[in-house]
Amino acid sequence: MPHEYLFFDDYSEGAHPRILEALATTNVQQERGYGTDSFTQEAERLVKEKINKPQAHVHFVPGGTHANLICLASMLQPFQSVIAAETGHINHHEAGAIEATGHKINLVSPTAGKLTAESVEKVVMEHAGEHAVQPRVVYISQATELGTVYRKNELEDLRHLCNQHNLLLYLDGARIGNALAAKRADLHMSDIADLCDAMYIGGTKNGALCGEAIILVNQDLQENFRSHLKQRGALLAKGRALGVQFMELFKDDLYMQNAMHANTAAQKLADGIHACGYTFVHEPETNQIFPIFPNTVIESLQQRFGFYTWASVDDTHSSVRLVTSWATPDRATEAFIERLNELSKK
Ligand SMILES: Cc1ncc(COP(=O)(O)O)c(C=O)c1O
Repeated sequence: MPHEYLFFDDYSEGAHPRILEALATTNVQQERGYGTDSFTQEAERLVKEKINKPQAHVHFVPGGTHANLICLASMLQPFQSVIAAETGHINHHEAGAIEATGHKINLVSPTAGKLTAESVEKVVMEHAGEHAVQPRVVYISQATELGTVYRKNELEDLRHLCNQHNLLLYLDGARIGNALAAKRADLHMSDIADLCDAMYIGGTKNGALCGEAIILVNQDLQENFRSHLKQRGALLAKGRALGVQFMELFKDDLYMQNAMHANTAAQKLADGIHACGYTFVHEPETNQIFPIFPNTVIESLQQRFGFYTWASVDDTHSSVRLVTSWATPDRATEAFIERLNELSKK
């Protein structure tokens, strides 16, 4: 039987209907290529306005791996490295894209998916002197790969440490909308831009067909960036397709509405799971949640719903990853909880 609903990730659907409509409406309008079109220019303006950074440079790329690879490689000299959490996306899920550019990733054991200023400082201290690789960039993601969220004071601590040790702070915002929409969030998009040298705003996981908006806040990183994009195949002749989507996402509140919808759906799941008496690896904050279930319950649930078993907890229990999206309907979360209830009574 095909799955009733997929909680594998937040890109199981296509695009928000308004994005498709915007692509259709602008379809036959002739424009210049390679992101020099009027839609992309407007999208750049809207993003800069959102982060309150008129001097920032904004570039659109098709996917998150492009954004991470191109930003990080452009920020590093041949002998320099990037510090990241062991759970960081660039470490496990990008086929060695960073390493393939000749750069080491200095790995740190995370706390709830996050780097702390102390853990980063330890790496810096261990790499003193010209014979060691030189850590230069700190990579973090907001929300993290475990769905947790950096608070303002945690980002400020990292920024302070970066200033002390001449490090650059780069933020992977594949799910930045979900982090900003988190219940206990204490950051605005502009706060994040104030604290980072470079970042990207994820579109693919928040209602766009595809696309991420790279933001270069630090002016030293802006020169020649389009050449970096071109050399790595991410300067699209039809760059307008990305510009139109971001124009639509940011011309009003669609970007945040999508993120809030996904977080609300995850919270409904989390509440139902709590009510059945189960616990979580980390307190649910965004649209990725990690409950712990008996393996027998997981097997039964997976007959009707698609989701990943994450890690073994003990001989009879595992954590799973449930991800909701801008499109998750109430009937999907309700059906999941109903089935969990039935299985938990047995
Ligand atoms: C935090 C994070 N960064 C980057 C990526 C990479 O994005 P893409 O698969 O579009 O290359 C993902 C994808 O899941 C992600 O979760």
